[in-house]
Amino acid sequence: MSKIFVIETKNTHYAIGVDERGLVRHLHWGDKVDKKDYDIPAIWDTNSNYSDLDNAKLEYTVFGGKLYRNCAFKCTYADGCRDSVFLFENAEETENSLAITLVDKAYDVRIKLHYLFSKNDDIITRFAEVINDSNASVMLDRIMSAEINLPTEKPYEIQNMNGSWGAEFQLETTELKTGSVNYESRKGTMGHTNHPVFIASQNATEDYGRVYFGALGYGGNFKVEMTRDYRGMTRGIIGINDFDFSYELKAGESFVTPKVYIGVTDGFAVMSNMMGKFAVENIMPKSFAKKPLPVLYNSWEATWFDVSVENQLELAKKAKQIGCELFVMDDGWFGDRHDDHQGLGDWVVNKQKFPNGLNELIDGVNELGMDFGLWFEPEMVQRDSDLFRTHPDWIYHYEKRENSELRNQLVLNLTKPEVKQFVFDCMDKMLQKHDIKYIKWDMNRPFSEIGAENLENPQELWYRHTMAVYEIADKLKEKYPYLQLEACSSGGGRAELGALEHFDMVWTSDNTDPLDRLTIQKGYSMLYPTKSMRAWVTDWNDWCRPTSLDFRFLSSMQGSLSIGANLSKYSDDDLAKAEKYISLYKDIRPTIQFGDLYRLASVRQDDYNATEYVKDDQAVLFICTGADSLFNHQFKEIRLKGLDSNAIYSFDIDNKHFEKSGAYLMNVGINQCLGTPLECKIVVLKKLTN
Ligand code: GLA
Repeated sequence: MSKIFVIETKNTHYAIGVDERGLVRHLHWGDKVDKKDYDIPAIWDTNSNYSDLDNAKLEYTVFGGKLYRNCAFKCTYADGCRDSVFLFENAEETENSLAITLVDKAYDVRIKLHYLFSKNDDIITRFAEVINDSNASVMLDRIMSAEINLPTEKPYEIQNMNGSWGAEFQLETTELKTGSVNYESRKGTMGHTNHPVFIASQNATEDYGRVYFGALGYGGNFKVEMTRDYRGMTRGIIGINDFDFSYELKAGESFVTPKVYIGVTDGFAVMSNMMGKFAVENIMPKSFAKKPLPVLYNSWEATWFDVSVENQLELAKKAKQIGCELFVMDDGWFGDRHDDHQGLGDWVVNKQKFPNGLNELIDGVNELGMDFGLWFEPEMVQRDSDLFRTHPDWIYHYEKRENSELRNQLVLNLTKPEVKQFVFDCMDKMLQKHDIKYIKWDMNRPFSEIGAENLENPQELWYRHTMAVYEIADKLKEKYPYLQLEACSSGGGRAELGALEHFDMVWTSDNTDPLDRLTIQKGYSMLYPTKSMRAWVTDWNDWCRPTSLDFRFLSSMQGSLSIGANLSKYSDDDLAKAEKYISLYKDIRPTIQFGDLYRLASVRQDDYNATEYVKDDQAVLFICTGADSLFNHQFKEIRLKGLDSNAIYSFDIDNKHFEKSGAYLMNVGINQCLGTPLECKIVVLKKLTN
């Protein structure tokens, strides 16, 4: 009865076996081998305290029997039984997919493990589906997207992008010798603390060393749990957090988990480039995934809540003058919104600020030749709003608990169909009446007092809320195919692949200090596509750390360039400089947004930053120094990557012209003396055709 399935990607194999007992066993993930050699190894009991199952590598561990380790699945059957026995039933294979069905015969419930893959890359898309063929409900207590088995070896270093508000995407590494390393969110969204990803490696660098990685396409409460057992086996589970989660799967229904994208490469550079391209090709909404993002102006840090036709048009004129393509008005345009104490929920144009309606501004922006975008925070309401006065029961709440506020806000219960419809309608009405091409969808607080009296099983609220957000975003995009959506959550709280399945781009942090931003951008670049990363040039230099306009531009040009500065205060020289950089950015935009990315040096590890992007005949290099003097470490040999060894590249640096071969640039490199703190240079290299 034993069977073997081999998933073949561009460079790797993922092998699964079904043993005599019907257990679906993990056999291999890594380099390709001769398919004939795959075998299902025996598993042994070591002593009575560990069962043979504890020692087995299983594709999807279920709770029950003699299995004591962490599991991917746990449920409660209608008769109260919490023990599962899922054995192989059948498999369906196509050129690009494998689906293995397991069945718990005693209850007529099935789990289908899905694997999607191609020969274009080394990413496998995994998800699980539970199908309730019985005539009674099953309570799902835990349903992970995938279980991961790594080759049994020395301890792995596990990386995650951790942080807090204003300090997102700090890369941290933990050596997993024993026990577990957990990353999770219990806040309703991903939040700023951890990411729904794993990166497991052993002494890997950007260029060398095996790297196993995965990123979950789900931005609600998530869990990543990596464990290493007493025999040195490293396993992981990744998916929806089981904390305060359960889901009632009624007779005849099925539940499909979010997808997780897993891969294995050598070095972090290949990992990032493969995942970035995969996201653009396969994950992000099709309408804009392959189109370059426009240079955007957002007026938030210029006018804050104090918006008017006059001040917005004044900024719009300047934005157009320097070359922006899209003008976005942020918070403050609706309801009785004058600061952050009131107004959320009342998505009608504020008549004092816009006495003739919003079209006066939008027409003005359009006449200048720019598209118009608008900010919403649709999942929220404030006590001081008409919406709350009319529908106080539309928030998550418990009768005997007072609702806690954060930024004076309360979270709308999007699991109520009428609330979900209201949220869609608010944006839909604005889109119907106005030429709005872009929505920045914000979300500025975690959930609390999570009562949802409308749900038969209130523990479904976390999941249902996240799915409601995705559903509304999808519906808007379907009805308005030209609409671009940006996901923002107090900065980077929604900068993850779940959001990127439904939104075209994300905001990574409210911290726009250009040096801090280099660290944030590096963390983001590990598993997410550069093109989807909005990066603003602002005036933080005025109240934080002084930095030149050149530095601020060259930092933001390493993502999707955007401007968030108060252009009304800019001198003619500054406006001319901004115009020059935006024009340069438009020339290099395809390379930045869609090219291969090489992290040559980073401020944290190498005391300066060098980032290179390569696409077709162009390479772009950014060199930035940190805030400290480099003393006698200022002399750098910067070796490029990803060039054509035999080609000649023409470029200018420090006002001198050079023509050098790719081989020279990659092996000998560019000599630089980086003597000045907070200095930044850009080098555009053009491959000469002979
Ligand atoms: C959040 C966002 C900001 C801005 C404000 C508006 O903080 O992260 O970019 O939109 O809300 O209130």
